[in-house]
Amino acid sequence: MLIATSLIISPVFSQTPVITLDMANAQKNVSPMLYGLMTEEINHAYDGGLYAELIRNRIFKDTKTEPDGWGLVKDNQSSEADIKLIGAEEHVPNDERRNAINGAMQACLRLIVEKANGRVGIANEGYWGIPVHPSTTYKASFYIKGTDRREPPRWPWEPKPTGPPLPVIENNTPGPITVDIESNDSKTVYAKGTIDLEKSIYWKQYEVNLTTAADVEPTKDARLVISTNRIGVYYFNLVSLFPPTFNNQSNGFRPDLMQMLVNMKPKFLRFPGGNFLEGPKITDAFPWKETLGPIANRPGHNGSWGYRATDGMGLLEFLEWTEDMGAQPLLAVYAGYSLDGDHIDAGPLLKPYVNDALDEIEYVIGDTSTYWGRKRAEDGHPQPFKLNYVEIGNEDWFDRSNSYDGRFNQFRNAIEAKYPQLTCISTIPGTQYPSMKVTSGKEPAVVDEHYYRNSWDMWENASQYDKYDRNGPKIFVGEWATREGAPTTNMNAALGDAAWMTGMERNSDLIIMSCYAPLFVNVSKDSVTGSKAWQWDSDLIGYDALHSYGSPSYYVQKLFSHYLGNKIVAVTAINIPMQNKPLSKRDSAEGKKITTVPTIFYSATMNDTTGTIYLKVVNTIAKKQAVKINLDGAKVSPEAKLVMVKGSAPEETNTITEREKIIPVTETIQGIKKSFSRKLDPYSVNIFEIKINK
Ligand code: AHR
Repeated sequence: MLIATSLIISPVFSQTPVITLDMANAQKNVSPMLYGLMTEEINHAYDGGLYAELIRNRIFKDTKTEPDGWGLVKDNQSSEADIKLIGAEEHVPNDERRNAINGAMQACLRLIVEKANGRVGIANEGYWGIPVHPSTTYKASFYIKGTDRREPPRWPWEPKPTGPPLPVIENNTPGPITVDIESNDSKTVYAKGTIDLEKSIYWKQYEVNLTTAADVEPTKDARLVISTNRIGVYYFNLVSLFPPTFNNQSNGFRPDLMQMLVNMKPKFLRFPGGNFLEGPKITDAFPWKETLGPIANRPGHNGSWGYRATDGMGLLEFLEWTEDMGAQPLLAVYAGYSLDGDHIDAGPLLKPYVNDALDEIEYVIGDTSTYWGRKRAEDGHPQPFKLNYVEIGNEDWFDRSNSYDGRFNQFRNAIEAKYPQLTCISTIPGTQYPSMKVTSGKEPAVVDEHYYRNSWDMWENASQYDKYDRNGPKIFVGEWATREGAPTTNMNAALGDAAWMTGMERNSDLIIMSCYAPLFVNVSKDSVTGSKAWQWDSDLIGYDALHSYGSPSYYVQKLFSHYLGNKIVAVTAINIPMQNKPLSKRDSAEGKKITTVPTIFYSATMNDTTGTIYLKVVNTIAKKQAVKINLDGAKVSPEAKLVMVKGSAPEETNTITEREKIIPVTETIQGIKKSFSRKLDPYSVNIFEIKINK
């Protein structure tokens, strides 16, 4: 039996703490899926993040009045030209409807050039800049057409076009159109190409590759410009610019961010949310069917975090991303509750949503004899994906109508009837929401618990799972984080995380999966207004258009996942120094008493095939702490590896300009034996990799 540290209160720093690993007591399995990732479109995680598209507002649907992200370029001010967003408003005037390419792309950008003295065109600012790297080829593409707007309305009953009459100029004019990536002041052209425009009133797609020179200095102060030096009326749509992607996949991912994720060795990816699954309104739920196939067929949808999602990161991209990391999907299906509070009651009204989830699962795991399995094959992935878990909704404890019991059961019954091999996860854990949990039918096999806490609360609750009932549902900690530091977390948060993870690891017979949230944050700010690219502080991985970095928490996650055995080693400790947890204003108002929390946290696992012990010990305070470590029942090699993440102050952190202030350091330590001592550095997470001599 494990002894919770909180039971062993000793006078602070009076005696050396002793941590004892009971090597003979390493029977329980570590969950093979313990560490995974959670993702959703928040903080520009995909658009302006992992999804490599560089053009912001590529189908002109981000805003309804102005072409957000786009501007007019005139090299010479005597040129006469303007740009206008066409067809983006809710009710598109009839004459503007004629500019739709398809049902997904009804809005577009019109450039009218009445007088061209030199270059005139349109520019896109990207997601807080376009990243320029040396010797790099970018794939640009766009649709373009001319106009027939000066023709009279087609049908006698149609209204005349609104607004001032268009100038008397010809259609778009054939000839070269220049495409370049250039500095924002247009003084430096980093890469340039041309397309040969045909004169046409019908949409046609053009493509051109743009390659930078070897001596280009990396920068994000750049934009994409498409320009002409001829008068005309030009309409643009689906303007796209892709840099090289991870594994050169088309419609793929940003390589640096992908590599950081691959390095974490996650076992699963929970997607597509989070709030992003549910949407503010029922009609904003993740529309997986509209996220399939060519990007030209994807209309995008209202996201849950204040901006529109392109859905370039669609269902298949999520699945391929999972596959690229060697992980499994953990699919969350929309379950009839949305963030503004609307819900769909169980029964006939919910049936289409249940069927939609069954279709979605078929897309993921159906073979090619099924309708949706065949569709997946047509989309380029004949092989079914491996799926074990389906989560029914997200944080349904927010649903005050208490409809979840019925909704969950309707989904679970249908899913398990068709796919008995799948396990459905309930989003209402009974421990946190006893009055709202699912009570009808059998008890959910797995429930999803979420914890966003500060470091004190993490330290106080790091042993909460030691006391959990082993006869209840298994636990999926589907979102958790120590929320200190912004936009990415600091060293103190990493110490809170590490302490919490020792608790999950020690109890990974019960905690079968866990994933931190949010994963990504674009840390850019608007240079003029100062408005932030993110909505949620305290995230794991930060980036701008050019660079990326891991927070101290990122490195803790990565190391905990790397250095993990398959058996839980029982650990006991004595003399763990305690410290007072300060009372928050709320605690004081509620008359709470000061409590104490440990200053050292620990867990151990063992790989019984390789004979390796992984001991994790966290020192949360400013003082070096000596610990004695007993390895009862093991003959060990005298040399061990010690990997540490440490800081010199709780607030210390990595930033976009100082990206590697805190990174893991590794040393070889000698003198490991049945009982040995080690001084833990202040504010440090220590992982000992110790070999057992067989
Ligand atoms: O991780 C950020 C948000 O926190 C998630 O979208 C939501 O599920 C939770 O409330």
